[in-house]
Amino acid sequence: MKTSVAIIGGGPSGLLLSQLLHRRGIPSVVLERKSKDYVLSRIRAGVLERGLVDLLDEAGCADRLHAEGYVHHGTLISYGDEMFRVDFTEHTGTPVIVYGQTEVTRDLYAAREAAGGQIEYEVEGVVIHDADGTAPYVTYSVHGEERRIDCDFVAGCDGFHGVSRQTIPLSVRREYEKVYPFGWLGILSETPPVCDELIYANSERGFALCSMRNENLSRYYIQCSLSDKPEDWTDAAFWQELKRRIPAEQAEKLVTGPSIEKSIAPLRSFVTEPMRWGRLFLCGDAAHIVPPTGAKGLNTAASDVHYLYHALGEFYETGSHAGIDSYSARALARVWKAERFSWWFSSLMHRYPDQSAFDLKMQIADLEFLRSNVAAQKAMAENYVGLPY
Ligand code: APR
Ligand code: PHB
Repeated sequence: MKTSVAIIGGGPSGLLLSQLLHRRGIPSVVLERKSKDYVLSRIRAGVLERGLVDLLDEAGCADRLHAEGYVHHGTLISYGDEMFRVDFTEHTGTPVIVYGQTEVTRDLYAAREAAGGQIEYEVEGVVIHDADGTAPYVTYSVHGEERRIDCDFVAGCDGFHGVSRQTIPLSVRREYEKVYPFGWLGILSETPPVCDELIYANSERGFALCSMRNENLSRYYIQCSLSDKPEDWTDAAFWQELKRRIPAEQAEKLVTGPSIEKSIAPLRSFVTEPMRWGRLFLCGDAAHIVPPTGAKGLNTAASDVHYLYHALGEFYETGSHAGIDSYSARALARVWKAERFSWWFSSLMHRYPDQSAFDLKMQIADLEFLRSNVAAQKAMAENYVGLPY
């Protein structure tokens, strides 16, 4: 088989890139290790930056997003029983849209299928060959049948545990990582959200987040120990702990119910450089990971896709290498800003095992400063709604 761009990974990055390339007349093939149902079973963050919404509009798959997504003009931040609001629209002129990442992925699959896009599921043994040459190719198997795709370029959209990043020689790659000393225990419940905006809560017992998917589907998280397992937490214990971490006024109106999903995610900051090696380009979680605090995972994958899609379009339309040659530097410039914001917001909102009394005083002073200073709120809002591409 031959195509222009072989895309490894059928998550949001790979699907969005494939759909945008298609809209520009550039063929691609998506190779996905799992089944479509498995990919759609993943529960991920649900806050979309303006840039991602614009890309989904350009990809022609944002109708449901606009019909069902929730426009959020701000967020609430609490510490103990204190709570204040940061108004995104007041400070930046831009809101965010709350819409489950699963739904974004579902819409992307629907668009690819409607366009007759080539997606191969349950592929195994993907190997990227000659990425540093001028005629790369990918080998893999499907249900035991060996296959090969000859292509001009390979897009590594296969997430943190994929093969693409590993294809770049260690002598070329530089990796940066910070592992956080806690995880997030998250649940989904078919209950009305406690509030119509998100509540990020810093409490003496640890971080909590109150989010939502729709008016009867809530998403809640509490900071937990890395040694915890989901089965260690009954629903009753989760609700009791959540109530102790959010302001009393919110806790009183919290509607509890059975969890329909319960999982623990570790938190890590990670970046690999460069994001390009020859004809191989890394996008999304294949190249970088953020703690979910700032909801930057999907949104930073989106800016990678934006840069790569335009670079490949320029190459096929004009023969220019300028875009592909500058891809890694341009993508990393925005990646590092997202990493910084995600690290800063995580540092502000979580309790760390080794925090001293002074450290705690600094954390509260930071929260008080954010509460009282317009410039601080504007800076936070600009990062949260998404820095320019
Ligand atoms: N071969 C083929 N597919 C693979 C391989 C492989 N060797 N390894 C991983 N994959 C697939 C995974 O099954 C997954 O569906 O690549 C896809 C990668 O998708 P994500 O991990 O979702 O990463 P990405 O598309 O970059 O999305 C980034 O979405 O999933 C969230 O937390 C993530 O918010 C971030 C954003
Ligand atoms: C979510 O709704 O899952 C969510 C929202 C905001 C975050 C993280 C997760 O920062």
